[in-house]
Amino acid sequence: MIIIAIDGPAGAGKSTIAKALAKNLGLRYLDTGAMYRAVTFAALETGILLEDEAAVAVLAKSCEMSVTEDSVIINKMDATKAIRGPVVTKAVSLVATNSDVRNELRSRQRDWAIQNSGGVIEGRDIGSVVFPDATLKVYLTASPIVRARRRVAQDGGDVDQIAAEIAERDQRDSTRADSPLTKTTDAVIVDTSDQTIEAVVSHLKKLVRQANPESN
Ligand code: DC
Repeated sequence: MIIIAIDGPAGAGKSTIAKALAKNLGLRYLDTGAMYRAVTFAALETGILLEDEAAVAVLAKSCEMSVTEDSVIINKMDATKAIRGPVVTKAVSLVATNSDVRNELRSRQRDWAIQNSGGVIEGRDIGSVVFPDATLKVYLTASPIVRARRRVAQDGGDVDQIAAEIAERDQRDSTRADSPLTKTTDAVIVDTSDQTIEAVVSHLKKLVRQANPESN
C-alpha cells in the first residue's frame, strides 16, 4: 500500500500539490484538515461550545462524515463552502488541540487508507503520527509572505490580516501538546516559495518512484 504523507503549515501549497500528485500517480487524495474543519463547523452549527472538549469529542465520534475532493458533508449538512470561511478557519485550531477528537479522526484516516488501498494524505501529523511508516513523507513549506498571498488568492481577504492569522495558527499548531506540527527526521523538506506546482510535483513523483519502484 502506497501512503504519501504531506505535512506542513497553512499556505505551503499542500492541497494543490497533494491533489496533483495523487492524480498523477492514480491514487486517492485525503485532506485531513477538512475533517477538523468539518467537526468545527458541526459544533458551531449545533451550538456546542468548542471549549467543551467532552461534547466536541462526542460529536466527532458520533458524526457521519464524508470528505472527498469535491465535497464535505457532516451529519447530512453540506459544509463544503462554510469550512473555508473565516469563522471556521479562526476556530479550527482549538478543535485540533482536542486529543479525543484527534484520536477519532486519526482512526478514520487510517480506515480511509485501507479502504482506498493507500493514497496521498495531507495534514500536520500524517508522517509523524498517523502513518509513521508512510512510503514517502514530505514536509512542504514556504516563506510567510508567500503563504499569506496564496491564501488571499484562494479565499480572498487582506494580506496583512491573513499573515497575522496564519502566524497565530502556526504558533498554535506547532506548540500544542498533542502531535504538534513537526518535521520528522525522515521527511523530505521542500520549500515551494519559488517553485512552480509542476516542478514540485515532478520532483515528488521521482521521490515516490525511488521509494517504491513498483509505483510506476
Ligand atoms: O490544513 P488546514 O488549514 O485545512 O487545517 C485546519 C486546521 O486543522 C489547522 O489548524 C491544523 C489542523 N490540522 C491538524 O491539526 N492535523 C491535521 N492532520 C490536519 C489539520
